[in-house]
Amino acid sequence: ANKKLLILPGDGIGPEVMREVRRVIDWMDRRRGIRFEMTEDLVGGAAIDARGTPIAPETVTAAKEADAVLFGSVGGPKWDTLGWDMRPEIAILTLRKELDLFANLRPAVVLDPLVDASTLKPDVVRGLDLMIVRESTGGLYFGEPRGVETLPDGQQRGFDTESYTTNEIERVARLSFELARKRKNRLASVEKANVMQSGLFWRKTVTALHQREFADVELTHMYADNCAMQLVRNPRQFDVIVTSNVFGDLLSDLASMLTGSLGMLPSATLGAADGTGRRHALYEPIHGSAPDIAGRGVANPLAQILSFAMLLRYSFDMEEEAALVENACTRVLASGLRTADIMQTGTAKVGTSVMGEAILRE
Ligand code: NAI
Ligand code: MG
Repeated sequence: ANKKLLILPGDGIGPEVMREVRRVIDWMDRRRGIRFEMTEDLVGGAAIDARGTPIAPETVTAAKEADAVLFGSVGGPKWDTLGWDMRPEIAILTLRKELDLFANLRPAVVLDPLVDASTLKPDVVRGLDLMIVRESTGGLYFGEPRGVETLPDGQQRGFDTESYTTNEIERVARLSFELARKRKNRLASVEKANVMQSGLFWRKTVTALHQREFADVELTHMYADNCAMQLVRNPRQFDVIVTSNVFGDLLSDLASMLTGSLGMLPSATLGAADGTGRRHALYEPIHGSAPDIAGRGVANPLAQILSFAMLLRYSFDMEEEAALVENACTRVLASGLRTADIMQTGTAKVGTSVMGEAILRE
């Protein structure tokens, strides 16, 4: 079957770094005979300018029909004043919702040549390779009831609800156990079972699933505050971490800084598998559209290229090709080439396309 890929570069540096991915895809085609059926479309500010909407209905349909979506980044000052319904971010929020992308995978990997770029000491992070799985369609950011109400005594109260059903917990935990099996076979489930009912329920549900289906995986439970501390103290103790939407938001941002630069970090967001094992999936760098450097040809393309490597691994089971791309990135860094965001002493500063070219060569 053809591998259907929808490419959505977006705004700012999105199209600049996506161009380098297109070269990698061309290389795969020419040199390895791996062919994708590709469509490219506008999202975010670019779609607002061309069509008056951050994401057209046809784009959503195309995303549903694709095997995988490769997303760039959206937004920029040009569209900041258009109002709530015209935010470029609506493009990504709509895709997450329409494709029911409930699991956000954020790897934190320290590549050897960049070990000094970490905010921590080199000996703490050397060889770090962990994966945070954040539940991304439920919990505190979506739970009902929510709102602001006026109390009898005249003051107001703002409130949100943390809420998880058995199914919501099981599907993200199941995906995380399966991921752990393909890695170092260790899963840390993170909540606050000591002070939250929903946290205690999370822990019980994960424990039951573990006993039923994943007894071979080493499971530990950890409170979220302790996890934050452990990520800084000794991040290499972790393999896969699974957690709720709100804790995952904080912990994954924290973990990203263990590795150094925003321009290096990919992510995946996965949906439920259907009967045939096919699941919706969207891949994007962590970084945004970087309007401060857009149009200058200096953006780091590695996060976007590494997002494509994740796509090869998780949507197409192409482990060998994924590793090929990742190893090329490591070797280019080892050879001393750096974009401005990851400059270190003794390295050579290059722009986006020279970096892309070097990846192809490796
Ligand atoms: P940002 O990630 O775009 O930029 C933060 C800083 O990191 C900037 O100084 C930027 O130059 C630098 N940076 C980011 N990616 C880089 C790369 N690949 N190479 C070199 N340097 C890089 O975050 P910021 O400034 O908060 O947001 C800018 C715009 O992007 C906003 O409109 C925001 O809403 C949007 N955004 C979009 C996201 C998405 O599409 N998923 C995610 C985050 C922000
Ligand atoms: Mg965040």
